[in-house]
Amino acid sequence: MTKLLVVATGNPGKLKEMQAYLQDTPWELTLKPPELDVEETGDTFAANACLKASQVAQATGNWAIADDSGLQVDALNGAPGVYSARYGSNDAERIARVLRELGDTSQRQAQFVCAVAIATPDGAIALETQGVCSGEILFAPRGNSGFGYDPIFYVPEMQLTYAEMTPEQKRKISHRGKAFLEVLQKLGNG
Ligand code: IMP
Repeated sequence: MTKLLVVATGNPGKLKEMQAYLQDTPWELTLKPPELDVEETGDTFAANACLKASQVAQATGNWAIADDSGLQVDALNGAPGVYSARYGSNDAERIARVLRELGDTSQRQAQFVCAVAIATPDGAIALETQGVCSGEILFAPRGNSGFGYDPIFYVPEMQLTYAEMTPEQKRKISHRGKAFLEVLQKLGNG
């Protein structure tokens, strides 16, 4: 039996990506109503994912899923973190700001984090999980694929930046890929 799962995003790209991750489950994914907006006021990825899943579930009366993700740079005390999407007005500015703030320090460790939450129709959190991918911030962008901070995020185990990987390579090792693997395992075991 298929079960409706409302994705707490207005972004059709994110819906497609989640559909790909959850294709072998009984869930049928749909976008949240456009007039329903949830402010990301949490100070962690997990808090924001729970907030979005819970509010969209309650407002629609359906199960809901939300993710929240971003880049944490160790030498910047975890910035941009939950402000990753708001760290500049476009991807080029956001990348330039991270590189400027890091300067020529050799401390380049960073991680991408993706938190995912699923809420029941009454807004209670039924499942919460997180995926992490560790890497380093390069001194200059490399590669043309992907989006966001991909060109400056280098993954040593792959010897590639996110922007140099094929979508399939990135799905396997990325923070989002790992988070959804956890979701699948938990759904399977539930
Ligand atoms: P959100 O989870 O849609 O709120 O996205 C948070 C922000 O984190 C995005 O706008 C990007 O700037 C950044 N981000 C999240 N995941 C990735 C990724 O896989 N590559 C590059 N940037 C990412």
